[in-house]
Amino acid sequence: MKGIVLAGGTGSRLYPLTKITNKHLLPIYDKPMVYYPIRTLVDAGITDIMLVTGGRNSGDFLRLLGNGKEFGLKHLNYTYQEGEGGIAEALALTEHFADGDQICVILGDNLIEGNIREAVSEFREQRRGARIFLKEVPDAHRFGVAEIRGAAIAGIEEKPQHPKSNYAVTGIYLYDATVFDKCRTLKPSARGELEITDVNNAYIREGAMTFSILDGWWTDAGTFDSLLRAANLVAAKAGVTETVPAATVA
Ligand code: G1P
Repeated sequence: MKGIVLAGGTGSRLYPLTKITNKHLLPIYDKPMVYYPIRTLVDAGITDIMLVTGGRNSGDFLRLLGNGKEFGLKHLNYTYQEGEGGIAEALALTEHFADGDQICVILGDNLIEGNIREAVSEFREQRRGARIFLKEVPDAHRFGVAEIRGAAIAGIEEKPQHPKSNYAVTGIYLYDATVFDKCRTLKPSARGELEITDVNNAYIREGAMTFSILDGWWTDAGTFDSLLRAANLVAAKAGVTETVPAATVA
């Protein structure tokens, strides 16, 4: 299985932090954001990885990550997304890299506490179709939201005003090679992007979508609040109990 980290986009919700750098290079506690999704893939046993980025700061990723030595990798693959066409457009650029294999796609601003190793091995056995990771959240309207019927997902709505469940679709996706055909059929959404939710709904219509519920915390980091939350969660995981020394708040 191959791993794909999507780290393009304008990061407009974090402006002006993203005026001079790419969102995925911003710090989350003691590391740049993009370290966390790479670590998630490596911890799941996925070591053949491609990073998709874009914009004016794309060279900084090379300087930061090099060949992935810090993650125990011998080599990292990079590709460049021109423009801001959305997650599914970025994904479509990795077809030659995937080369017919199954892929694990992770959004560069998604952080998890746990490990997806088990679900990844199950998906290897599943061979065909797709699998997504859900997480119960209090603010489902911010995400893709899954409607669950029995043991199956009936559909996904992107940022619905009235979510049909509290289950957010996290930014970690397992796909077979048909994902690239599905990307080719997409039309831009109201926000002018090719949506990953449309890709997932295509698998649901084929009856080829399974899901796992993520253990432990999950967060994105694409807004001011979630960026802060991500840093606090990572710090707490590292055993830091107090991020502001008492003396400075007296
Ligand atoms: C994207 C997806 C959404 C998903 C979210 C997870 O949203 O479109 O379905 O729930 O990532 O982080 P975006 O952050 O691009 O608005």
